[in-house]
Amino acid sequence: MADRLGRPLRDLRISVTDRCNFRCTYCMPKEIFGKDHPFLPHASLLTFEEITRIARLFITHGVQKIRLTGGEPLLRKNIEVLIEQLAALRTLEGKPLDLTLTTNGSILARKAKALKAAGLRRVTVSLDGMDDAVFRSMNDVDFPVADVLAGIEAARLAGLGPIKVNMVVKRGTNEQEILPMARHFRGTGVVLRFIEYMDVGATNGWRMDEVLPSSEVIKLLRTELPLVPLDPTAPGETAERWGYADASGRHDPRLGEIGVISSVTRAFCGSCNRARLSTEGRLFLCLFASQGYDLRALLRGEATDEAIASAIGRIWQGRSDRYSELRSTMPAGSTGGARHIEMSYIGG
Ligand code: GTP
Ligand code: 5AD
Ligand code: SF4
Ligand code: SF4
Repeated sequence: MADRLGRPLRDLRISVTDRCNFRCTYCMPKEIFGKDHPFLPHASLLTFEEITRIARLFITHGVQKIRLTGGEPLLRKNIEVLIEQLAALRTLEGKPLDLTLTTNGSILARKAKALKAAGLRRVTVSLDGMDDAVFRSMNDVDFPVADVLAGIEAARLAGLGPIKVNMVVKRGTNEQEILPMARHFRGTGVVLRFIEYMDVGATNGWRMDEVLPSSEVIKLLRTELPLVPLDPTAPGETAERWGYADASGRHDPRLGEIGVISSVTRAFCGSCNRARLSTEGRLFLCLFASQGYDLRALLRGEATDEAIASAIGRIWQGRSDRYSELRSTMPAGSTGGARHIEMSYIGG
């Protein structure tokens, strides 16, 4: 099954809570997400049974990878129980899913073993710098780097690899952390990825001059650490891969690799195979969509599995979203008119 631009459905990203214990300035700025912010009531959330049912139906359309996101997914009570249910599902080829989770790492040290035991394959941890003052001010809740590093180490010991670390780069805020982050993770088996700061949501006050293009990140890294381009591992991948080179200029797998995610300067909509399910069961076809399709109404109504699966198929077949590609043709500062959903609501 393909959408109107010929793109298959392979990746389902499920947000399990809209809450987070961080207030990253680029995602959940405190002024907007304050004490009185109306988060979703518990009855609105999809139950684990509803999530697993819908995941199974997405798989009938070819989904191979499921990522749990949030907000902060580890804040969802008994998340291990959901992971156990999802881990039991099989792809159309009868293989286990690539089952992963994006976390800020804050309670990962406590949870890593249980997540692994439940059947989670791997984790991706967000971390925006090695310098404590920089990181504390970016997460805006004074959370220390050391605790996130402890979470990463616990995940490694639990076997939740290959571990990826995502760093959102903001010019003028944490660009000085690029080299220290690379030095820290080189040779550890962790894949560090640098993400261009995006105009996602409507609250972070995004400005183009705060985007540091990936080309500049690579140039900076190469002043100190030799890098060679690597081939993609999967079609529709977000990150462009670079390997650390040895003295002869060849990729040295022991030194590992990094990635750059250039959603602003080099949009990758052409091969986007990702669908997103919000915490209350709305299907979004793009990270920058302003409207979702209410699947919860179907789940809580009388609809059969066949009816829901065919609704998902019809929605995907009608898809023509390619926001990041279009943004580069819009006037500076424009978001194309509609108010976008927030990243904290839909996940990364
Ligand atoms: P892996 O399977 O581990 O490679 O994960 P991934 O890169 O597919 O997903 P991840 O959530 O780690 O993505 C990293 C970052 O890339 C996100 O936090 C977003 O900033 C950005 N990103 C991911 N998917 C999309 C997308 O479909 N569109 C855009 N514009 N950005 C995306
Ligand atoms: N630009 C790029 N990435 C973002 N994320 C959140 N907001 C933004 C943004 N404005 C990503 C970060 C974080 C993940 C949960 O979402 O990578 O790690
Ligand atoms: Fe930060 Fe992730 Fe929480 Fe957003 S969801 S505030 S990026 S930790
Ligand atoms: Fe996919 Fe939309 Fe991101 Fe483009 S902007 S890669 S279509 S989610």
